[in-house]
Amino acid sequence: MLLLLLLLPVVLCPGGGGEEAFQGPTSYHVIQISSFANSSWAQNQGSGWLGDLQIHGWDNDAGRAIFLKPWSKGNFSEEQVAELEDIFQVYLTGFILEVQNHAQEFQMEYPFEIQGIAGCGLHSGGGTVSFLRGALGGVQFLSLKNHSCVPAPEGGSRARRICALVNQYIGIWDIAMKLVFETCPQYLLGVLDAGKAELQRQVKPEAWLSRGPSPGPGRLLLMCHVSGFYPKPVWAMWMRGEQEQPGTQRGDLLPHADETWYLRVTLDVAAKEAAGLSCRVRHSSLGGQDLVLYWGNPISVGLISLAVIVPLLILLTVLTFWFLRRRSYQSI
Ligand SMILES: *[C@@H]1O[C@H](CO)[C@@H](O)[C@H](O)[C@H]1NC(C)=O
Ligand SMILES: *[C@@H]1O[C@H](CO)[C@@H](O)[C@H](O)[C@H]1NC(C)=O
Ligand SMILES: *[C@@H]1O[C@H](CO)[C@@H](O)[C@H](O)[C@H]1NC(C)=O
Repeated sequence: MLLLLLLLPVVLCPGGGGEEAFQGPTSYHVIQISSFANSSWAQNQGSGWLGDLQIHGWDNDAGRAIFLKPWSKGNFSEEQVAELEDIFQVYLTGFILEVQNHAQEFQMEYPFEIQGIAGCGLHSGGGTVSFLRGALGGVQFLSLKNHSCVPAPEGGSRARRICALVNQYIGIWDIAMKLVFETCPQYLLGVLDAGKAELQRQVKPEAWLSRGPSPGPGRLLLMCHVSGFYPKPVWAMWMRGEQEQPGTQRGDLLPHADETWYLRVTLDVAAKEAAGLSCRVRHSSLGGQDLVLYWGNPISVGLISLAVIVPLLILLTVLTFWFLRRRSYQSI
């Protein structure tokens, strides 16, 4: 049952807060996803994250961490790292056994999935904050408050019973608390420093406009693509002059394989109102110089050329026919 305690639990948090104020990530957390297919088959997935950047994987067979960055060990020594790996290995294998042993007692129905998240982040007022949460099937289940396991209301009586049990295992809980409140902040400060060249890099976005599928007769879907920027926080908006267009729809921030980001913002407008709109992009890499792309100009240039070329073509065709017909009459 030890391990249930450690229940380095669950729940995914949207990568530590405060990232807007700092450049780069300000929190570290580990995620555990344990899938139980039936009473004899289960699997763990472990990973470690700086904000939304994954820097650790977990090799279940070897029971060792996978270091995804040259600086993933932060300022920890090989011995410290090996010791932590041992703790996680014992925890993860024990976790599965404990859950399987208690599945019936806690009325867990196969298949089910348990998620855990635990870590720490820099506090905007200085110092660090630590957290630990567990979820069952994506629903928050328990969390950490004042160094104790607290059941989430959504977890019902099962969460209360499990937390009561967890709080009894003082020795194991103490290890978890030490990891979260002591080891994690030390590691976080060290790894933020070790990786700072990469974490604090600034990569400028590219932006371009395109037309989406027509939302309806006489309407246009204007699309503004912003791509390849780092860090993640970005602002992009359709504008008319200095006026933000409230109809702007912001898509999800999508990751590129090179760890930069992509964002699309769209605006559904009447076709005749599209001219004069612009897409404005603000990002820390741009040094206060917003990117501004205008709709309309290239289009109206295109329209003007069409307006000239089409009649010219028609005229040419007519002339050619007329000329050919004249020749054929003459040849008779
Ligand atoms: C348990 O689940 C695994 C993985 O889905 C499957 O391969 C295996 O046959 C299942 N075993 C039983 C006894 O149902
Ligand atoms: C936190 O826990 C300690 C002992 O575990 C207790 O004395 C204290 O009152 C608790 N604080 C709050 C705010 O609940
Ligand atoms: C790593 O750096 C942090 C912050 O500077 C420090 O608190 C910690 O003691 C360092 N750890 C080691 C092993 O040097």
